[in-house]
Amino acid sequence: MSTSLFRTKKIESILAEGSDTAHGAHGLKRVLSMKDLTFFGIAAILGAGSFSSLGGAVFHGGPGVVILFIITAVACAFTAFCYSEFASRIPVAGSAYTYAYASFGELFAWIIGWALIMEYSIGNIYVAYSWSDYFTSFLEKIGVHIPQYLCTSYMEVKHAMANGSTNPDVLEAFNKAPMIGSLKIIFDLPAFVINILITMLVYRGIKESRNFSNLMVILKMIVVGLVIIVGGYLVFSHGLTPNWTPANDVGVKSFMPNGFSGVMAAVSGVFFAYIGFDAVSVLAEESKNPQRDLPRGMILSLVICTVVYILLTLVLTGAVNYKNFEGVGDPLAFIFEKQNLNVGWMQFFVAIAAVIAMTSVLLVFQMGQPRIWMSMSRDGLMPPVFQKIHPIYKTPSFATIVTGLVVGIPILFTDKTFVLDFTSIATLFAFVLVCGGILLIPRKEKQAGKFHLPFINGQYIFPIIVIGSLFLAHKLSANYFADMFNFDFNANSEYAGGKLSFMDVATPNITLIIFWFSALLLAIITFIKKYSLIPLMGLITCMYLLTGMTKNNWAWFLGWLLIGLVIYLLYGYKKSNLAEK
Ligand code: ALA
Repeated sequence: MSTSLFRTKKIESILAEGSDTAHGAHGLKRVLSMKDLTFFGIAAILGAGSFSSLGGAVFHGGPGVVILFIITAVACAFTAFCYSEFASRIPVAGSAYTYAYASFGELFAWIIGWALIMEYSIGNIYVAYSWSDYFTSFLEKIGVHIPQYLCTSYMEVKHAMANGSTNPDVLEAFNKAPMIGSLKIIFDLPAFVINILITMLVYRGIKESRNFSNLMVILKMIVVGLVIIVGGYLVFSHGLTPNWTPANDVGVKSFMPNGFSGVMAAVSGVFFAYIGFDAVSVLAEESKNPQRDLPRGMILSLVICTVVYILLTLVLTGAVNYKNFEGVGDPLAFIFEKQNLNVGWMQFFVAIAAVIAMTSVLLVFQMGQPRIWMSMSRDGLMPPVFQKIHPIYKTPSFATIVTGLVVGIPILFTDKTFVLDFTSIATLFAFVLVCGGILLIPRKEKQAGKFHLPFINGQYIFPIIVIGSLFLAHKLSANYFADMFNFDFNANSEYAGGKLSFMDVATPNITLIIFWFSALLLAIITFIKKYSLIPLMGLITCMYLLTGMTKNNWAWFLGWLLIGLVIYLLYGYKKSNLAEK
């Protein structure tokens, strides 16, 4: 037993604790096949990102966003390989949390577990809000109107009013809201209710959840397929293909009308669309053959969704000029509106599909969170009640209810933008640690029937990639490094003359500087230690995506980690199974 904050858990003991015999008759049920896991992956991936934030993404980048979908898919694929390697070695329920425990040690494991609350629970708040948007617009289409004060978040109205918004929905919510004392009753009722329903379903049982989830995936794939086929056909039959090389503001026609920087401006929306493939790994203890099926399920779902995203983006940007997507929150329905392709029945179908798609995302994430807490509780880092399994339904009952509360209560006092940023930064952070963790655990021999991460020696290739990227960045934009330090060369002479301080002439992009510094350091370490190329590429691509986060995002995220650290030191550090007793 150890007092170290970095005490690691032996893989053998993790496996023993997660085995069926360890849980006896009260363990989780092994009912999931590879098909189920792939369906779970698609259920988790295809949701608010594609149905909602895709509009903003194509507005920034135009048809060229397809390239970003491919780049992000590659980053996620590298990460999925690392998750797969861990999942095949440690097929228990805790996902990245458990993997970190075996590689980086307890403190990092706790931090990951803490960060994953943001991916699963806080991410679900965003999806619940988006679900509510589509659900209420679907109700409008069939003639049912819910008062705006009951389908808009309080914070959204508060911020919009403070900024002098003239949005009629916001004004309606504000002006018509009933009051209790001086408090206006404004909240997103559908988002709140769907959370309760999903919590009840997840509490009730994995088998019921699986059947429901599989059905939803089939339905949403049919409707998304229909959007691609009908939309694609109309793009060609109406002769709209010139929309794929639209003119930008200065009249230049291009697949990337706003250049690559325009495409990169869509990173967070595109990344959010991919979040979810990793959720498959939390189902390790409920799958029949986790070591073979988890990796396959994860990678297969990622490949299928990537193809869907590329086709959807092409259909969207073919059907309507990219500039028209400004502020469009329901892009898939938008392209079929009267002023565009004008297909009324498709708008209706898309609204139903969006509600279904987001329900399945909610379901998978709501299942993932309690299973991570269950693992943390088994290790003593959370109170024992979190590992309680329901005697009849065989689900982590207490943890499921707490998840419902953690998602449900903030629905009453947060808004979409806030929770979206939180989710993205925390998920990327977890991905970085998973890829880094693979570099730290010893290599293993290939075993028949189990996933094996191929070893490609990065000793020379990785440093060449890093240095090549530096040159490429400079070649593509001569001011790349000056911009990175945001150094104002015109003010430079005055700076030299002592009239200005350094901070007056430079506002450096700290995250980008840290990124390049870390990349070079990693290249040197790889050259010495001969690290494996695939996890290295996962690590570096996810780190690059992190550079897109704003200072504000970092401040909130670090604050959150600090709170987690205090809780760990006060509780988990002392109660851990690895602590000196
Ligand atoms: N990728 C998931 C979605 O788009 C989180 O809803």
